[in-house]
Amino acid sequence: MKRTERPPLSASAYADQSYYIQIQRNLNAQFEIDHDRKRRFMIMTYGCQMNEHDSEKLTGMLGEMGYVEALKKEDADLIIFNTCCVRENAELRVYGNLGALKPLKKKNPDLRIVVCGCMMQQPHVVEEIKAKYAHVSLVFGTHNLHQFPHLLSQTYTSSHLLVDVWDSEGEVIEGLPVTRKVGIKAYVNIMYGCNNFCTYCIVPYTRGRERSRTPESIVREIEGLVRDGAKEVTLLGQNVNSYGRGLEPSADSTGEGFEAVKDFPSLLERVSQIEGLKRIRFMTSHPKDISDELIEVMARCENICEYLHLPVQSGSDKVLKAMNRHYTKGQYLDILERARRRIPGLAVTTDIIVGFPGETEADHEETMSLIEEARYDSAFTFMYSIRTGTPAAEREDQVPEDVKHARFDRMLKRMNDIVIEKNKVHVGETYEVLVEQQGKDGEGTLIGRTRHNHLVAFEGPLDLVGAFAMVKITKSKNFSLVGDIVEVLA
Ligand code: SAH
Ligand code: SF4
Ligand code: F3S
Repeated sequence: MKRTERPPLSASAYADQSYYIQIQRNLNAQFEIDHDRKRRFMIMTYGCQMNEHDSEKLTGMLGEMGYVEALKKEDADLIIFNTCCVRENAELRVYGNLGALKPLKKKNPDLRIVVCGCMMQQPHVVEEIKAKYAHVSLVFGTHNLHQFPHLLSQTYTSSHLLVDVWDSEGEVIEGLPVTRKVGIKAYVNIMYGCNNFCTYCIVPYTRGRERSRTPESIVREIEGLVRDGAKEVTLLGQNVNSYGRGLEPSADSTGEGFEAVKDFPSLLERVSQIEGLKRIRFMTSHPKDISDELIEVMARCENICEYLHLPVQSGSDKVLKAMNRHYTKGQYLDILERARRRIPGLAVTTDIIVGFPGETEADHEETMSLIEEARYDSAFTFMYSIRTGTPAAEREDQVPEDVKHARFDRMLKRMNDIVIEKNKVHVGETYEVLVEQQGKDGEGTLIGRTRHNHLVAFEGPLDLVGAFAMVKITKSKNFSLVGDIVEVLA
């Protein structure tokens, strides 16, 4: 197995791939002549927006190499699993779905199966793939995504499993092509990796240390997106509030304000000045690093949505300390209160883990009381999942599965009741909605999102996709809203 120490890189490392892109283009042109169709690929993406966005980059590279997307996996010549390992069930799904491809590979030995993403950064996973999934052609990790054209080329010249996983991250690589799923909304990475080492979390081990992109490259990318029709961007990072640490100050001589960008609030303000950009969101904010300045910028800039994803994880100070989160329940609620006071109508969502090692009934009660006070608009609740290699996995006071389940069910029920109750207050209100796509009831139905990120279903013609409309809410469903268009905005 090739588990490489990271080779030296240049930030233009993707340019080095042009040779392999050309080879693939030629091979694919020949394939098209022989088969009267282009080679087709399918990507299955697991995990968070980081992975979603990496898959958009893979799609961009595949486009450059002359591949087209397959509608179903039976039609694909290349199947890619972009994997997540944040919880055990994410991993189990990957293994299950990967195993299910064996008959397809048997029927079509030319099928290339590629596995990449966070799971592959763990040596024991790579060993498992080697031992039990002989139908896989290529394994690579999160740090060498930009080498995909080279790696893929090699699968066509060798029938052996090729493994190339780098131990650590390199510099930020710019210039990768990206094909986004929805043109009107786009994810933009502002930083990679994580330095926080929450004791339950595998991400710092799979994504490496924190690296910020330069404000110039972020702003240029967003300007390009807006030119191509994007209305909304979501700035992505595991902890956006630590953006800019370690970044050299920009010597901006262009008069475009980059020299003023030194941290996340100043980046956000600079991004908000991009002409034609109607909505900005960002995630994820770590409560320990949220500043009053961030709240001020959100309040001040019209195109920053009234929406904040602020994972709390637990309501118990003891558990928060053991998680290495660096805030207390009181401090967290204080941030919420300040943010809500300054930004009227702010929607807040969160992540919660139940059953962290050592969590007692009293600790769980603290989390239950926190959700009463915080009254979230929506929340993701997870059962603690042991992640090999993290400090919490070593603890002997693991919470028994049945206790975890019981706490999870109780939490979910109360959380859902609060979310449903909160959803009801929107009936009768009129909100600006970005029309995103056709609704699930087919022609004549549409769905979109409010600035608060609430999902709204309404009737209207498909040509409104990408437009803004004022929609009056007539009904609240459990986790979404229904309404009527009252005005289409220019
Ligand atoms: N960087 C983000 C989120 C990363 S992972 C943040 O700090 O908020 C997304 C969520 O998965 C986390 O917020 C946490 O709630 C959950 N999570 C992470 N590791 C987990 C584990 N071992 N078991 C259960 N949930 C976990
Ligand atoms: Fe994981 Fe914590 Fe980093 Fe989020 S901040 S990715 S939860 S270590
Ligand atoms: Fe995301 Fe999962 Fe990796 S949550 S960063 S894809 S481990």
